[in-house]
Amino acid sequence: MNKITESLASGTNKYIFFGGKGGVGKTVMASATAIYLASLGKRTLLCSTNPVHSLSSCFGQQFIGHGETQVEGCTNLYALEIETATTVEKYRDDTRGKILDFLKYADIPIDPTPFVDAATTNPAFEESAMFDNVVDIILANKYDCYVFDTAPVAHTYRLLGMSKMYDMWLGKMIKSREDAICLKKSLSFKKNKKEVCDPMIEGMLKSRRKTEEIRKLLTDPKLTAFYFVTLPLALPISVVERFIYWVRAFQIPVGGVIVNQVMPQTDSKSPFIVNRQTEQKSYMELIDKKFGSLVSARIPMFNNEILGMEMLKKVFD
Ligand SMILES: Nc1ncnc2c1ncn2[C@@H]1O[C@H](COP(=O)(O)OP(=O)(O)OP(=O)(O)O)[C@@H](O)[C@H]1O
Ligand SMILES: [Mg+2]
Repeated sequence: MNKITESLASGTNKYIFFGGKGGVGKTVMASATAIYLASLGKRTLLCSTNPVHSLSSCFGQQFIGHGETQVEGCTNLYALEIETATTVEKYRDDTRGKILDFLKYADIPIDPTPFVDAATTNPAFEESAMFDNVVDIILANKYDCYVFDTAPVAHTYRLLGMSKMYDMWLGKMIKSREDAICLKKSLSFKKNKKEVCDPMIEGMLKSRRKTEEIRKLLTDPKLTAFYFVTLPLALPISVVERFIYWVRAFQIPVGGVIVNQVMPQTDSKSPFIVNRQTEQKSYMELIDKKFGSLVSARIPMFNNEILGMEMLKKVFD
């Protein structure tokens, strides 16, 4: 047992995220964690938010395009690779619908195309769409545990940041809509200025409640833990250092740091091996110095790459 499996077995974490530099082993660690949780009898969803999916290859099973799929050879485990293109398309349709509703309600007879284009071609649109999808998956609450295999840092940072930005944007939209209604009422000649329900505000308040609910869940240390995967090498270590800082800035609880692909010590006299071992030793010391008690597991480098259920089960053995 290591600190992760210990904490998963004894704790109450329901939402577990894995992040780190490209290629460090996020998919492998997320998959091994999900298998472990499922083995504890928890109905678990392993979900990839990485636009470049690799859960299917990692398990040697086809998940992409199949929605939430029962993983063969593991009771209680389901996998989902969120399809970016479909998600973005659906979100674009929703956004278009909202803009059309707005123009109709506000009685503005104008071609909606430029507004729809402006809203759906902004650079953060893909992350907004993915974020919205993750929120819906979490709020559907169909599983005991959710394990997220995230994309390399920049994408995940924007995904996480989206909740804060979205909330600020909603706040501003609600305020300006209320001001507009107020102005319309005071300029109206109608005597009977009774309150009418505004579907725009209703929709925005609903989205805001959703964002608040998700923020409450993802900032609760009893429910959420973000784990960082690193290799004993300079670049992945410095990425984790920065990433921890960002995640904390979003008040998301840090679970710990997993050091992956630790080479076994050997008596080899090969200059290549001796050099790599000396280098690794100094990076292991650096990791302990920088992350201290946050180090949750040291996973050895296996003889082969980690593919299929049997190998994945060995990761936390
Ligand atoms: N401890 C290990 N021993 C041997 N091979 C490993 C180990 N951990 C990961 N690998 C291999 O390293 C490769 C990268 O792992 P993985 O796909 O999990 O990384 P990733 O961080 O998810 O990558 P990406 O950023 O592209 O999503 C895979 O081929 C995997 O099998
Ligand atoms: Mg991956």
